[in-house]
Amino acid sequence: MRELATEQMNTSSPAISLILRGVRPYGEGDPVDVLIRDGVIAGIGGITEEADVVEGNGAVLLPGFVDLHTHLREPGREDTETIATGSAAAALGGYTAVFAMANTNPVADNEVVVQHVARRGREVGLVDVHPVGAVTVGLEGVKLAELGTMAKAGVRVFSDDGHCVHDPLIMRRALEYSRALGVVVAQHAEEPRLTVGAQAHEGEQASRLGLQGWPAAAEESIVARDCLLALHAGARLHVCHVSTTGTADVLRWAKARGTEVSAEVTPHHLLLTDDRLGTYDPVNKVNPPLRTAADVKVLREALAEGVIDCVATDHAPHAVQDKDCEWSAARPGMLGLQTALSIVVETMVNTGLLDWRGVARVMSERPAEIAGLPDQGRPIEVGEPANLTLVDPDASWTVRGAAFASIAANTPFEGMELPGAVVATLLRGRVTAVGGRIPA
Ligand code: DOR
Ligand code: ZN
Repeated sequence: MRELATEQMNTSSPAISLILRGVRPYGEGDPVDVLIRDGVIAGIGGITEEADVVEGNGAVLLPGFVDLHTHLREPGREDTETIATGSAAAALGGYTAVFAMANTNPVADNEVVVQHVARRGREVGLVDVHPVGAVTVGLEGVKLAELGTMAKAGVRVFSDDGHCVHDPLIMRRALEYSRALGVVVAQHAEEPRLTVGAQAHEGEQASRLGLQGWPAAAEESIVARDCLLALHAGARLHVCHVSTTGTADVLRWAKARGTEVSAEVTPHHLLLTDDRLGTYDPVNKVNPPLRTAADVKVLREALAEGVIDCVATDHAPHAVQDKDCEWSAARPGMLGLQTALSIVVETMVNTGLLDWRGVARVMSERPAEIAGLPDQGRPIEVGEPANLTLVDPDASWTVRGAAFASIAANTPFEGMELPGAVVATLLRGRVTAVGGRIPA
């Protein structure tokens, strides 16, 4: 195992025992007691030992969630989020590992910045914070960053997210290096020549409102190109925030011909549509933009089917002045960590598209596999690391952005009543969130 991973393993909690009483692994069967000792699952059912207890009341026990796409804004924009506040939001959202995107200031395009992010994550200790390394220097798309040096420092995922690696030769080289290094390139698929000045999904709504369009083809053409390049390079490719029907079609086609491609969809693209644009409220501005109801339907089906592998939040905190302004000046992005599970329940579970095993797959197992995390997304079995999330499927709650752990409050779900709540999160047996609070 590489350096960073080993260090993170060493921060395991001290020897403590804990009983999760009356919980239902994967929401299946009758409630059982689960014993956690020394950071691992030590027993399931028939527990006679005495220990501290977390009351499950029949709640669903899942492997801890893994977010492949989080913007933590540190270094550079600590007025909107820090590694500490973002880690708290992640723990409260049921996450035990997050990947912190590289579009910080300075950019995480070198060993020093990625090591700083990893170190801060360890110090905070609420969630495993894995730094994403930039593919190109300064996210400028011109010169490859030192992928090898960052990989040696423990980086597993590389992305210029926020920007597309649009030059096909640079992308080809990045894929070739990623193969040699055993890491994965995550592409923000957006052909920049097709989205100059783009403000919203190119379609009826944007035309009616006079907003410059962001055509679906700008995403689909890059995904198609990169699937071909990945196959050619014998490399793995990960596609960030899939938002269109055409991208789902391209992924299905590419997978069928043996391309090692994985893909994520965000909670907001599973629920919201460009019908929201009518209010001109920039809280709905995001990149890629909210698409149509037809796209939402296809994205849900593709996720259920496995054509899209997993859910990733694209948690993107922004300051009030960057959101509470005219549409064209507003920054794209929305908070996601504390609402992701509930949006997945609303769009995938309550619609019958996924059962709780399916939720474990798309929120935890597949993202852990894609990033190559050996101790996350593991089955709920004796001997496995106790990275766990307890979910009350019958709870419902009202979203209040101001109440989130994040510094920013830009949630498009403000005021909505959502189903399902995270009861507790455990990182290597240590309770990192319980009852909506971070334990002291
Ligand atoms: O909406 C977005 N916000 N999309 C991105 O690609 C970047 C992100 C951000 O950093 O705010
Ligand atoms: Zn992006």
